[in-house]
Amino acid sequence: MPEAPDRRTDSEAAAKLPRSVRLVEVGPRDGLQNEQAIVPTDVKVALIDMLAGAGFPAVEATSFVSPRWVPQMADAAEVMARITRKPGVRYPVLTPNLRGFESALAAGADEVAVFVAASESFSRRNINCTIAESLERARPVFDAAKPRGVRVRGYVSCVLGCPYEGDVDAAAVADVAAALHAMGAYEVSLGDTIGTGTAGRTRALIRRVGERVPVAALAGHFHDTYGQALANVYAALEMGVATFDCSVAGLGGCPYAKGATGNVASEDVLYLLEGLGIATGVDMTALRRAGRFISEFLGRASASRVARALDAKQPLGA
Ligand code: HMG
Ligand code: MG
Repeated sequence: MPEAPDRRTDSEAAAKLPRSVRLVEVGPRDGLQNEQAIVPTDVKVALIDMLAGAGFPAVEATSFVSPRWVPQMADAAEVMARITRKPGVRYPVLTPNLRGFESALAAGADEVAVFVAASESFSRRNINCTIAESLERARPVFDAAKPRGVRVRGYVSCVLGCPYEGDVDAAAVADVAAALHAMGAYEVSLGDTIGTGTAGRTRALIRRVGERVPVAALAGHFHDTYGQALANVYAALEMGVATFDCSVAGLGGCPYAKGATGNVASEDVLYLLEGLGIATGVDMTALRRAGRFISEFLGRASASRVARALDAKQPLGA
């Protein structure tokens, strides 16, 4: 039997949405890690400072990973040394193991992120170990972070599909998310690494993971490869998720997920949220300036539809 149509009024539907959303800008890390040409440290630092100035409460700045695996992030310590830290803004960095954590700490990081996949094949290609081993590698990071007052965020990759295995079981995602949360992750960001997810599957995923981890401790991290990211953000919002990762100008991809494009563009998410009357603290004009800066440097048009539309209508000026 077909489902009864949803007869909620606009205000009833809107009442279910969060009143404010925390946007985590990940372009300087998730975006730039995937660029072929090395982006100079100066450009990264300027971009991070512009994004912090635009009002993001968190700007993921870089990764303390092996420079042989991800050469683009080899200047992590220098980036951290040169950014101008804005009070109230967090600058999380990726740390796959204790070695990365120690380097991050020496560079003054006050928040780190560990990353684990929900699919075995992706785990092997991305960090060269099994899911169980990656959780064991993460444990000493949590143990070292706690007494030093460093917050740890957990990422789960491939939550809605794997480039090598195809479909990924939501129960497997829930297991990994729950393990990270139990180890002490203050938040678990669910990564649709290859952007194959749809709104219906996003909803089912949040329902399933939400049985194991409080929804208030979940974030959405949607890559836009299939053009579904904004719809997935909306579906997750309706499920009560109030933190989303996004990438200025839609920068990015993942070096170990061939063909994956960037995260949902920050400008597009901001436009959606502004239209819903949801507060973020991010200023669209300042964000567009940051998007223009990095797009000009990379010599290509922004991947944000909103930035392109607004640029055509209301050019930013010098
Ligand atoms: P490995 O080769 O298995 O480990 O790499 P190893 O312990 O044998 O070390 C190999 C070399 O790396 C050694 O150097 C180590 O010293 C060095 P060598 O002797 O060959 O000269 N090394 C390090 N160097 C700097 N910092 C470190 C570090 N650790 C070891 N922390 C490892 C294992 C995890 C290190 C490697 O696989 C790696 O760095 N992978 C990086 C993967 C990555 O950054 N992927 C992209 C980020 S994840 C992502 O984008 C997904 C996300 O956005 C969410 C989503 O979209 O789903 C978060
Ligand atoms: Mg990602």
